This record gives sequence, C-alpha cells and structure tokens, in this order.
Amino acid sequence: MTLKQYNWKDGPDLIQQHSVAKHRILEAYLAAYFRTLVSSPNQDVLKLTLVDGFAGGGLYVHNDTREPVKGSPFIFLEATREAEFLINKDRRKPVHLQVDYFFTEADRHAHMHLDKVLREAGYGDRIGNGIYIDHARFQDKADAIIEFIKRKSPRNGRSIFALDQYGYKEVPTHLLRKIFAALPSAEVILTFGVDSFMNFASDGDQVKDLLNGLGIPDIFGGRSVEEIKASDRDWRLFLQSTLYRRLVENSGARHFTPFFIRNRGGHGDYWLIHMSQHHRARDVMTEVHWANNNYFIHYGGAGLDMFQMVGYDPVHDADYLQQSPLGFEFDDIARRASIAALNEHIPRRVYANDAGISFGELFATTCNSSPASARIYRQSIGTLLDEQALEIVGADGTKRRSSAQIKDSDQIMSPPQRTLFMAV
Ligand SMILES: C[S@@+](CC[C@H](N)C(=O)[O-])C[C@H]1O[C@@H](n2cnc3c(N)ncnc32)[C@H](O)[C@@H]1O
Repeated sequence: MTLKQYNWKDGPDLIQQHSVAKHRILEAYLAAYFRTLVSSPNQDVLKLTLVDGFAGGGLYVHNDTREPVKGSPFIFLEATREAEFLINKDRRKPVHLQVDYFFTEADRHAHMHLDKVLREAGYGDRIGNGIYIDHARFQDKADAIIEFIKRKSPRNGRSIFALDQYGYKEVPTHLLRKIFAALPSAEVILTFGVDSFMNFASDGDQVKDLLNGLGIPDIFGGRSVEEIKASDRDWRLFLQSTLYRRLVENSGARHFTPFFIRNRGGHGDYWLIHMSQHHRARDVMTEVHWANNNYFIHYGGAGLDMFQMVGYDPVHDADYLQQSPLGFEFDDIARRASIAALNEHIPRRVYANDAGISFGELFATTCNSSPASARIYRQSIGTLLDEQALEIVGADGTKRRSSAQIKDSDQIMSPPQRTLFMAV
C-alpha cells in the first residue's frame, strides 16, 4: 500500500491521528531532553541545533476533528520556548537556550507553505538568523548542516535530527553514520515505514537494489525473500527483526529504541527509531514511550531478548498476547511482563561472572534489546534483592538495602550462598 502523501498546494492538508502520535512523542521527548540537559544550577547557556530534515508544510487540519494541527517545525520552536520558561522560572541564574533550527523540505509547495505560516506566526525576523528554511533534499543539505553544528558546538556537536521521511528510502545508513561520526552528541529520531517496506519486500525482485541503496546489503544471508517466505512460518517477524537489527547496527549509533507506532486503522505501521550514542539519552526516550502508551506496540519478548529470533518465545508470547491482544503496549501488563522477564534474565547475566556486573554496564549492554527503562530495571533488581537472589555492593563496599538509589558504578553480584534452585 502506498500511503497518501501530503499536499500543501492549496493550504494545510489533512493529517491522521497516527501521525499526530509522532508529534506527541517529539514534544514529550524535547521537554524531557531539555530537563535532563539543564540540570546544573551553574549552567548559563545550552547550545543546541535542532534539525527537521523532512519538515513538511508546517500546518495541517485534523482528519477527524477538523482542528488545526501544527507540524514538526512548530513543535521544535515551541518546545524550546516552553522549556526556557519552565527551566528558568525557579532559577537564580537563568539559562539561555541558544538554539538554531534547520527546516529542510524538498517539495516546493510545502516549503513555501512552511515559510508563509512561520512568518504569519511571527518568526519572520528570525528566518535566516537562527531559523534556516531550505527548499532542498535533506541528503543534499546534510553536509552543510553538520559543518554548521561542528562550528557551533565543536566539542560535542549537540543536536537532534528528526528524519521523518515518507516510507523508507530517503535516509540510507551511510547518512546516519556520517552524522554520528561527526557529532558525538547527535541524536536521530527516524521514521521508517516498515509496513510499506514489507509490502515492497513481499513483491520480490528489486529488494536487493533497495537494500544496497539503504546500505544494508545481504542482510538475509543470501536468501531471497521468496525462499524466506517458503521456509519460515514467521517470515514477517524474521524479515522485520533482521531488517531492524542491521539498520541500527549499520547506523553507527550505540543506542536505539525499537518501537512501533501502529495505525489502529490497520495499515501503515511505522518504526519511530531513536538513535543516540549514550544510554541515558535512550532511557529518556524509553520513559517517553512508557508515558505515552496509547500508540506504541512492539513485537518480541518483554525481556532482554526482544526482537532476537533466538530469544523469541512463541509460547511465552502467546500467553502474553492473550492478555493484551494488540501486543506489547507499554501498559501495566507490559510493565509486569517486563519485570518478570528481567527477573529471569538479570540473574543469568550476574551469575555468569564471579565479580558480577555493574548496574551501568548491565543497563548499557542490554537496554537496546529491551523495552524496559532504567526505572524498570531498578524495580526488577529490587524484587531480586528482596528474594536474596542477588546483592548490590557500592564502590566503598557497602551493601545496599534497596535498589531505588542504585548507581551506575554499583556492582550487582550473586549472593555468597546462592541456593540450588537459583542456579541458572
Ligand atoms: C512525513 S512528511 C513530514 C511531516 C513533518 N515532519 C511533520 O511532522 O509535520 C515528509 C515530508 O518530507 C518531504 N520530503 C520528501 N523527500 C524529501 C527529501 N529527500 N528531503 C527533504 N524533504 C523531503 C515531503 O515533501 C514531505 O513534506
């Protein structure tokens, strides 16, 4: 199925609720991002560049309510204004958010519409002076934007790139690698139309060219999609999990979130993949998913082996799906399932090494394949501590009584006398 594309030729176009879901996530993420970054009372400036690589025309009309809906460029601008107000309202020393914006849009009508609505909203004097609107393909502007960010923030290249493409072809992995190689603190929020990809893949023969173009060749180990379909009952899951893994591996990002947004109308599931170089950034986005559970769903187990075929457990998942027929939905059922799964997986990791593992390392090395946030890891570790299945030892040798304040450097260890039934 080809999704309908927006058209701003005659003013704002209609937008569907499942696309509005993306806006809510972006908004919530930006608010959490600013809160996390501006935590020191001594900080007086935060330099940041926000890039909307597929900016759209700036304004829509909601398909159901007919209310006006602001597009992603406004979300970026307003999130900064709101954060600046909230952060500074109780501070003695105000923080100045020094933010530049790049809005790139390939379609002429959309670009013109965006320019018009931004001017109408009072941003005219900032256009060309902190707000850069380009009628261009993002791929063609990326180098110049990266150079701008490197000059502005030479140490860390702090930036967020929202790459909200139609479909799945416009953001090849070499482009993502370029961003992460040049800008250590860059984060990317990538839309990937997995349903459209699957429909295309099901049709067969040009898949190789497509995958080469995306920079993920040979991901199916030389097998054609036809062969995979013929031999694998769960071929959709296999294709998706393989595609997902190779896409994020080849992006050059160390951390990522593997979540779907499902169009409840039945068509057009897409991935909203957050990519970053730090597990804390990943945790901030994971918390946003748990807090916005109306839209998110993912496949696979709830523990540390989500999306990995070796760990895919149809029996466990069948039970789970009975309780929650749409799949994993970041709700209470999902939270309980996540804690239960971590209660099994964490001891395995801890017992594998006599010295145990630090909380920081446990989280950083496993979070990519888990839907759980650091908070949920702590809850699971708390349960295991109560059951005396493990102990937590601080850097100075003190044993922790609770997991609530666990630090990254705390060592999680097997208790000296592990009972037989705990042996894994
Ligand atoms: C999904 S829409 C963007 C919606 C927008 N981010 C929002 O949330 O309001 C994708 C946009 O990307 C534009 N586009 C398509 N290919 C592009 C490319 N290679 N570079 C930049 N923009 C592109 C389309 O014209 C369309 O406006």
